[in-house]
Amino acid sequence: NTQTLDNLLAQARLLPVMSIRRESDILPLADALAAGGIRTLEITLRTEWGLPAIKLLRRERPELCIGAGTVLDGRQFQSVLDAGAQFVVTPGSTEELLTLGLDSPVPLLPGVATPSEILMGYRFGYRRFKLFPAEVVGGVTALRYFSGPFHDIRFCPSGGITLSNLPSYLAMANVMAAGGTWMTPQSAVDAQDWTRITQLCRESLALLP
Ligand code: 3PG
Repeated sequence: NTQTLDNLLAQARLLPVMSIRRESDILPLADALAAGGIRTLEITLRTEWGLPAIKLLRRERPELCIGAGTVLDGRQFQSVLDAGAQFVVTPGSTEELLTLGLDSPVPLLPGVATPSEILMGYRFGYRRFKLFPAEVVGGVTALRYFSGPFHDIRFCPSGGITLSNLPSYLAMANVMAAGGTWMTPQSAVDAQDWTRITQLCRESLALLP
C-alpha cells in the first residue's frame, strides 16, 4: 500500500479532484488537466457520474492514473474496483474500509483528521493518509505537530487548498501530495472554460518546490 501510493501520489505531488455533473464534461475536463501537466486525478462518487467517469477514462485515457474519491463504505469500495479505479480515497476511516484496503488489488488512502484516527489506521499497517478537511483541522500547523509522534507517516492534505496556500503545504516534509478542487473550479467546468483549468494546473505545477 505505502509503496504503491508513494509511486502514484508522491510522484504526482498534485491530486486534482473531479466531481462530474454532466457526462459531456468527463473527457474535456480530463484532457484539460492532462494538457496542464496532470496525470493522476481523483474522481468523486459525489455525483451519479462518478462511476461512469472512472470507467470511461480507464477505457479512453489509459495514460492517466484514475483514483476514486468519496468512497464511504464497502459497497462503494467494490463498485470503484469494478469500474477500474487505480487507487481509492476515503474522507474518513472505518474498520470496514481499512480492512477492505488491506486485501484490495489497488491501494487505499484513508482519510484522517485526528491522532486517534491515525493510530487506528496505523494499527492496520497504513502509513499514508489523506488529511481531511485539511484547512479546518489545522492545515500546515497540524501537519507540523503530526510530524513529531508520527515520523514515518506522510499525508495528502485536501480540503481548502488554494493556489495561495499550496506552497506552504508542499514545503512540508510529511506531505506527499496536495489534493482538491482548486484546479477544477465548478464555475470553469460549467462554462466549459477548459483553458482556465489547464492554466490553473500549470500555475500549480509551477509552484512545486
Ligand atoms: C476532497 O474531496 O478532497 C475535498 O472535497 C476537496 O476540497 P476542496 O474542494 O476544498 O479542494
